[in-house]
Formats: sequence, C-alpha cells, structure tokens
Amino acid sequence: MEQQKLVNVYIMDKRYAVPASLTIMRAFEYAGYKLVRGVGCRSGFCGACATVYRMTGDNKLYVALACQTVVQEGMRLAQIPSFPANKMLYDFASLTADGALLLQIYPELALCKGCNTCTKACPQDLQVMEYVGACLRGDITRAADLSFDCIMCGLCTARCPGELVPYNIALLARRLYGAYVAPRSEHLAKRVEEIRAGQWDAPVRELKALSVDELKKRYNAREIEQ
Ligand code: FES
Repeated sequence: MEQQKLVNVYIMDKRYAVPASLTIMRAFEYAGYKLVRGVGCRSGFCGACATVYRMTGDNKLYVALACQTVVQEGMRLAQIPSFPANKMLYDFASLTADGALLLQIYPELALCKGCNTCTKACPQDLQVMEYVGACLRGDITRAADLSFDCIMCGLCTARCPGELVPYNIALLARRLYGAYVAPRSEHLAKRVEEIRAGQWDAPVRELKALSVDELKKRYNAREIEQ
C-alpha cells in the first residue's frame, strides 16, 4: 500500500505528524480535536472556521479558512472560533437610503488608516478596504456590491489596526441596499401573492411526497431562468 506523505504541524504548540493532503480543519480532527465551534459548512461558505497560523521561523501571522487551506510542513496552528466584534443595534425600520447613516452608526469608519490589511486578510479576496471607503463616502450601492460575497468570517476585523469591523459595516450597507435602494422585484411580489393565495400548495405537496432520487431528477431537468 502506498504510504501517505506526512507533514509536521503544531497545534497549540504540540507537534503532530498529519497527512499532507489534509486541510487545517481535518488536521485538527486527525490529531484528535473534536471541533464543536469554529466549524460549519466545511465548504468555504459559512465563515465559521477562521484560523490564524504562523510558519516555523517566520514571524508573519497568516489567516485562512481552516476548511479550505491545506496543511504545510511547519504550520503552527490555532483556531479562533469567534473574534469579538462591535455590532451596533439600530432600528432598521426607521432608517432610509441615506448613505451618511453608515458613518453615523459606525463612526469608527473614520479611523480607517488605508493600510489595506483587511483586504490582505480576506479569504474571499474581496476588496475590503475599497468597500470600507465606499461606506465612508456613503456609497451604499458600491459597498453592497463589493461586499456581496462576504461570508462574515471576521478575519478582516481580527487584523484591522484601526479596530474597525468592516464586515458588520458592510452588512448594514447591504441591508440598506436591499431594503431602500434596489429596485422592487415585480415578479417576486407576484409570486408571493400567488403563494399567499394558495396557488402553490398542491405542487409543493406533490414535491414533498417524492423520493430523493425523483427530486434530484426533477431538479436536474428543471427549466433554468435566463
Ligand atoms: S466551515 Fe464553513 S467556511 Fe469553513
């Protein structure tokens, strides 16, 4: 049988030899850790597995998603199941499409030093500093657009020397965009009316009665909207 190549990683400073093909998350589990926090979708979508690490002999602190990053020889690992972040409370229904609200609600926006550390920390390769700049200018649309793929892992916040919470500020921008800036979707409103009127009850009942295989077949054969 072919022998698996092993690499040495250090988890909380203890050395483990783990298969070189494992992700950081799997390496933790291989080493015997049971992850009950800092783990979610395991597919790079939920942002729960933010991780910091150093390489032996290198003083730079690296950040990554543990479920997406493969181990390397000499990695020194620790999980950060959550990073403390400031999330302001606001009465969303009383807000408007006024971009100045972003700075009013998150005045620390003005503390951005323009260092771009947030962008370098983002595992989604988002232009974080760009969207922070858009928030500062009150450009809700640009901020919502640039931050659309944010998975809220918090690594930008963990690294920001200005102590901003970019992902929560962008969340507010996206909420404002969705509620007050984006054009209303007429076909969605029509569909909601149909649902309320019970027009889709019977088809949904029919789908619920199908087997998983039949559901998969129907899903693959569905008409895809252009
Ligand atoms: S576990 Fe969901 S992004 Fe890694």
